Amino acid sequence: MNPIRVLSIIGTRPEAVKMAPVLLCLSRNAGIESRVCATAQHRQMLDQILNRFGLAPDIDLDAMRPGQSLGQLAATLFSGLEAVLQDPRPDWILAQGDTSTVLVAALSSYYHRIRFGHVEAGLRTGDKWNPFPEEAHRRMAGLVADLHFAPTEGARQNLLHEHIPESRILVTGSTEIDTLRLVAGQPASAEETEWLNRCGLLEEGRLLVLATVHRREHFGLPLESICRSLRCLAEAYRSRIRLVFPMHLNPHVQEPARRFLGGTENILLLPPLDYLSMIHLMKRAALLLSDSGGLQEAACALGVPMLVLREITERPEGVLAGKARLVGTDPARILSEACRLLDDPEARAAMTAAAHPYGDGHAAERIVAALLEESARLHEPFHPARRDLPA
Ligand code: UD1
Repeated sequence: MNPIRVLSIIGTRPEAVKMAPVLLCLSRNAGIESRVCATAQHRQMLDQILNRFGLAPDIDLDAMRPGQSLGQLAATLFSGLEAVLQDPRPDWILAQGDTSTVLVAALSSYYHRIRFGHVEAGLRTGDKWNPFPEEAHRRMAGLVADLHFAPTEGARQNLLHEHIPESRILVTGSTEIDTLRLVAGQPASAEETEWLNRCGLLEEGRLLVLATVHRREHFGLPLESICRSLRCLAEAYRSRIRLVFPMHLNPHVQEPARRFLGGTENILLLPPLDYLSMIHLMKRAALLLSDSGGLQEAACALGVPMLVLREITERPEGVLAGKARLVGTDPARILSEACRLLDDPEARAAMTAAAHPYGDGHAAERIVAALLEESARLHEPFHPARRDLPA
């Protein structure tokens, strides 16, 4: 059988983090001709992660423009992908999650009648505005996907409720856990250790509290509320904590972060961190406050107590397991929950139990095996027959 052609499309930092193990697994399989298209919806933050895993895209659409609207971004991505999907024509397109890149990859696959595999399928909050625009993106990607790689049984159930045939869904575990497994044993490099030392993070007796925020539905007042509560927390625990805040490059995050958090002695504002540096920081953290989905899974797996700065989550598993708490953006709630955990080591310890619900770190292997199996079943690896796709 000829190798099957798989084109993986990635655009942002979290997609690179979660697709890295899949890309590595695809590239090592003799039955697969793997190509990677980076839309570069994120530029610096994407490159940082790709470099870390020694991955070089075959195609780079270089789509990032400062301050572009969602519509402008989608238009750039649609026209950029046109030529990429035609020559050579892939048998499968893979994309992960719910960014603009994923929506456009899914819809472009459909227009070109190319099979689409959705990694991290089935995450839902049920509220189309929250997270915005990710909930709508992933639902639309799910509508056109041919294979749905669900990270958890809960995600599979969501897809079944949407009448996705059972045979199209595979529970794989989250690829974030694969990535963690890949980097878990890697020590901090000399450069990172020096950087951590310079920040005073390795030597101080103070507890490390790590915080990140980036979601669009938080831009404006909710983000200001979050920053205000982080500042109050740092001031209230001046001698006991050091609050580290790696800033997303989005100007809507940078501006309020600098305005509210800059100039406080025990708050350290950092540029976006390389994945391994972030993991090293998380391992040292007594507490993580974040609105990030990927970090929610990583924190669970690493046993770092986490306060989820969101009103609703598409990852209920960690919350149900008692490893994360959903606290929203109300400053009083954030402060009281953070203080409770900082004051009570036993409450923190209760959130650090070893088992976690996001998989065993072998999701990428399952995804690649499923692609091969499905392609063998279809017997037409190179040019998918129109008869098994809708006319
Ligand atoms: C995007 C995704 C979101 C994901 C997040 C992870 C969409 C609509 N949103 O949000 O789902 O959780 O990435 O980070 O797809 N910028 C840079 N350099 C970079 C990256 C971003 O300067 O390397 C700045 C630019 O000003 C850019 C802005 O950030 O215009 C926003 O980037 P964008 O990709 O539109 O959205 P995110 O908020 O990052």
